[in-house]
Amino acid sequence: MIAKFLNSIGPLALLAVTPVIAMAGDGVPPLAALPPPPIPVDNPMTLDKIELGKKLFFDGRLSGDTSSPCSACHSPDLGWGNGGTISFGYPGSMHWRNSQTILNSAYYNKLFWDGSSQSLEAQAKTAAGGAVGGNVDGSMAEMRLRFSPEYVAAFKKVFGTEYPNAAQAWAAIAAFERTIVTDPKKVPFDRYVAGDKSALSASAKAGMEVFNGKGGCIACHNGALASNQRFYDIGVPTAPEFSGDPLSQITQRYEIYAKGVTEATYHTTGGDLGLYFKTKRPGDVGKFRVPSLRELRWTDPYMHNGTMATLADVVDFYDAGGGAGNPNLKALGLTATEKTDLVAFLEALSMDEPLTVTEPNLPATATWAEIAK
Ligand code: HEC
Ligand code: HEC
Repeated sequence: MIAKFLNSIGPLALLAVTPVIAMAGDGVPPLAALPPPPIPVDNPMTLDKIELGKKLFFDGRLSGDTSSPCSACHSPDLGWGNGGTISFGYPGSMHWRNSQTILNSAYYNKLFWDGSSQSLEAQAKTAAGGAVGGNVDGSMAEMRLRFSPEYVAAFKKVFGTEYPNAAQAWAAIAAFERTIVTDPKKVPFDRYVAGDKSALSASAKAGMEVFNGKGGCIACHNGALASNQRFYDIGVPTAPEFSGDPLSQITQRYEIYAKGVTEATYHTTGGDLGLYFKTKRPGDVGKFRVPSLRELRWTDPYMHNGTMATLADVVDFYDAGGGAGNPNLKALGLTATEKTDLVAFLEALSMDEPLTVTEPNLPATATWAEIAK
């Protein structure tokens, strides 16, 4: 399976010609089979690096009090998220958004619900260091790794350096994340695109028509990822936990203040500001990144705050024209059959089985006497 990733030679991999399923009208790329993810030229994939990154992903050494490895909030057994609505945060904080799956994050050009991170390498650094995520200082993490002879040897083998350093740790984690991607052979829709016309049920095929036609989904959820990677306000209601949990409010206000909102906004804001969090443009309040629709079967609940538990809930939401006052959606008037078909099609964009990995054994910590000799 890994060979697939080693073969993808650079950022241009995404441009590889992929079979096309249905034209979706003016300039909108149709849904298509998923090519291998792009690999940045300055962080090539090697088996040893992926193996190292996997260990680090599960290792609490990369979080302040060692309680919060990446896997605490991105668990392979919970669709690489944490299965909850709004995520917990580092002890003492509470996140205000859903913990996204990292499945297929390798394909996005901007990460997070508000697109505030540009690469998996940069994201790993902020996830481990951020007060709501891992809350660790890079030099503390480095020294913890330095006290593990197994890590010292692994970093030396992969990066050729005498001691582990934090930037290399983030690079290795990113390389591991680029293996947590959909295998098209296991996806009914991708098999259908590849020529197996029996791969989609009659209901899923009918749902594809709704997706591309009456439902209008293709306008935003398009291309191989089923996301145009842009930002819209579709009026997803505020999560009760967000308003009701003081810690969630405190954490969000702390974060937006640290990111430079005005004093007044810091004191008075009531909802998640979405893209505004990053841009500070008033028109961007409430906009969120269009998520991929791949692997939805394994990554519930849905939306930036996990307020929708099932795909049927999501379809009802769109059928009603989205949330109150949103400028982008209108009521669809779908029949009960069309709704069922649409759900069947969405499910056909997921692998037959969830992608999981076995948790690695973590390297032991040595004493100074053992290290120094
Ligand atoms: C305490 C919980 C927590 C921990 C620990 C954590 N994350 Fe996250 N992660 C989240 C939440 C919540 C989001 C969504 C935040 C947002 O969009 O504002 C997220 C988003 C992400 C995304 C963006 C996915 C996408 O498609 O845009 C990636 C990638 C990611 N995390 C990787 C990591 C890595 C790597 C680590 C470890 C170094 C880590 N996370 C540690 C909670 C956590
Ligand atoms: C105007 C652009 C737009 C259109 C049209 C659109 N969506 Fe979305 N979709 C989004 C955005 C933006 C989000 C994230 C919103 C949020 O979390 O606040 C989203 C989220 C979702 C999610 C949740 C995914 C997850 O992982 O949480 C699903 C499922 C979904 N859309 C399905 C559909 C379907 C089905 C249709 C057609 C009936 C559709 N969308 C039409 C923009 C759009």
